Amino acid sequence: MIYKELKIIFLSDMHLVHKDDFLGINTFNSFSAVVDNIVVNHSDADCVVFGGDLVQDQSIASFNFFESEIKRIKSPKLFSRGNHDISDKFFINLQEDDFVNSTNSDWEVLFLNTYSKGNIFGEVKESDLDLLIKKSILLQGKHLLIYMHHNLFLTGSPWLDMHITRNRDKTLKLLSKMRNLKLVVNGHVHQETRNQYKGIDFISSPSTSIQFTSNEKKFKLDNRNPGYLEIKLQQEGRWEVLCHRVEGDFGSPKINPKSY
Ligand SMILES: [Fe+2]
Repeated sequence: MIYKELKIIFLSDMHLVHKDDFLGINTFNSFSAVVDNIVVNHSDADCVVFGGDLVQDQSIASFNFFESEIKRIKSPKLFSRGNHDISDKFFINLQEDDFVNSTNSDWEVLFLNTYSKGNIFGEVKESDLDLLIKKSILLQGKHLLIYMHHNLFLTGSPWLDMHITRNRDKTLKLLSKMRNLKLVVNGHVHQETRNQYKGIDFISSPSTSIQFTSNEKKFKLDNRNPGYLEIKLQQEGRWEVLCHRVEGDFGSPKINPKSY
């Protein structure tokens, strides 16, 4: 049988704002352009993961827009909850698909929740980690990809690093016990980063809205266009991640913004 690699699309941090721009960016247009790009180039995706921080302004119009846009994507959809996803009703009603890996690839995709109610920073529950470790043992012989919202590695930008996963040291220590874990992907930091810890690779995605950069003392926006990740999970635990940016004019990122 010919080996079929698993293709996962990861897009994150839409921060949808109805009527207005968001720190200079039209988030409806930028999200739409990313969805357009995915529909054209990745209709064969085995799964599309939405990394969280979906709606910024909590307006009905933005929630409706999000739901109508994602209907254009036909692949199974998974959702990770971000610190801005404060509406229980909206998040619980999102139609998450049962993603069953129907290819013959030897990978499995798992979720780790970092949502901490009322906080911007992330926090992983020890009970969730225990459960994940048990799952990883049951999935021996499979390579694992985990998706989550918050980051586990510093970006070097203190205003952003204060919102990291608070118990990241403990989380990293426990994740490193999962012998079949190969790759972890997150949103939240609005930029592509790559880190390694005990043989596990950790990558983050650009946002579909405003972009951030690393090693900036003060809150500052980046000029790069919106983007997303294409993750190819291959034979024998190999993988490839491509960062795609979409073309177009979505506004001008605000200079000297106060906060987000
Ligand atoms: Fe976030």
